[in-house]
Amino acid sequence: MVNVGIIGSGVVGSATGKGFKDLENNVSFFDIDANRIELLKKQGLQATKDLKFVAKSSEIFFICVPTPDKNRNIDLSIIKSAVIELSKECKDKRDYFLIVVKSTVIPITTENIIIPLIEKYSNKKAGSDFGVCFNPEFLRETNPYEDFMNPDRIVIGEYDKKSGDILEQLYSPFKCPIIRTNLRTAEMTKYANNCFYATKISFFNEIHLMCQKIGIDSNIIRKIVQMDKFYGIHPWEHGHSFGGKCLPKDLNAVIALFNEGHIHDPVLLKAVRKVNEDIEFLNRCQINEKASTPIYSESGSIVKQNNESTYIRSFCKTTMNSNINKT
Ligand SMILES: NC(=O)c1ccc[n+]([C@@H]2O[C@H](COP(=O)([O-])OP(=O)(O)OC[C@H]3O[C@@H](n4cnc5c(N)ncnc54)[C@H](O)[C@@H]3O)[C@@H](O)[C@H]2O)c1
Repeated sequence: MVNVGIIGSGVVGSATGKGFKDLENNVSFFDIDANRIELLKKQGLQATKDLKFVAKSSEIFFICVPTPDKNRNIDLSIIKSAVIELSKECKDKRDYFLIVVKSTVIPITTENIIIPLIEKYSNKKAGSDFGVCFNPEFLRETNPYEDFMNPDRIVIGEYDKKSGDILEQLYSPFKCPIIRTNLRTAEMTKYANNCFYATKISFFNEIHLMCQKIGIDSNIIRKIVQMDKFYGIHPWEHGHSFGGKCLPKDLNAVIALFNEGHIHDPVLLKAVRKVNEDIEFLNRCQINEKASTPIYSESGSIVKQNNESTYIRSFCKTTMNSNINKT
């Protein structure tokens, strides 16, 4: 039995903590939100706003605080302050402990920001006094506990072998593959995964936008493409932009990292974001105007004229003109 401390007990933190508790570990939940603590207590869980208690009683900490979007870039202020507060409380710990970052952070945050903060505020040394892992979470907001308990794979990014060994031991009851990498590879894995989902959704939305202009039902095409045996069956979004807590902000963060750092120009990912914005804009206008779907002729010109079709026509014109201007 391992003493686990959850720092940030929202969607990811609750699922992680409940999962490890059900695997016979001793789990303490910490959060700055009193309502969340009360909710967890009502479920019979050990939850507190006393960080000192959690720091003292835990050997492995999971950092599960938000890493939100700010001006289309990642905002690390919450995770930095959570790590600083935890590190201060770990100053007096005599035994080795492990800090696992589960919040999604861009490469190379754990190495360049998190570890130096822990060392500074705990007055301890990574490797000898404490270990560090980055352990991306792939659960969905809709089914967090079930997804946590039934992962396709577990990725452990490790500062050193000892850190990875300890975390792998904690995950040993899980039957899926466990992949061990360095910290930055694990950080990038999470973005690659979310960017892949985002790309798939925007790919079919682009097909949808093209088909709509020339009177083809893209839903039929979607179904046919999904029948490809090398493809896999996924619950595709169709005609809807991707949203939620993770896809837009993770796409922004990875684009900002490579673009602003002049590392690589992520043209496809920028295009994925543009398609998503186009779909979102189109849907918003369609909802607002509450008009019926326009009817297109074989050549793609609008047969039935109403508010919505006027909008779509000018939308298509603008999009086409801006594309022509770029080439
Ligand atoms: N929601 C998902 O489906 C999902 C999936 C995979 C990864 N993630 C990532 O996991 C991280 C957490 O996401 P979430 O959806 O669980 O967020 P959430 O908003 O549901 O929960 C975060 C919790 O952290 C608490 N918190 C904020 N500041 C804190 C602090 N300084 N100390 C302690 N607690 C603090 C909040 O009160 C909240 O309860 C993010 O980086 C997110 O990108 C989310």
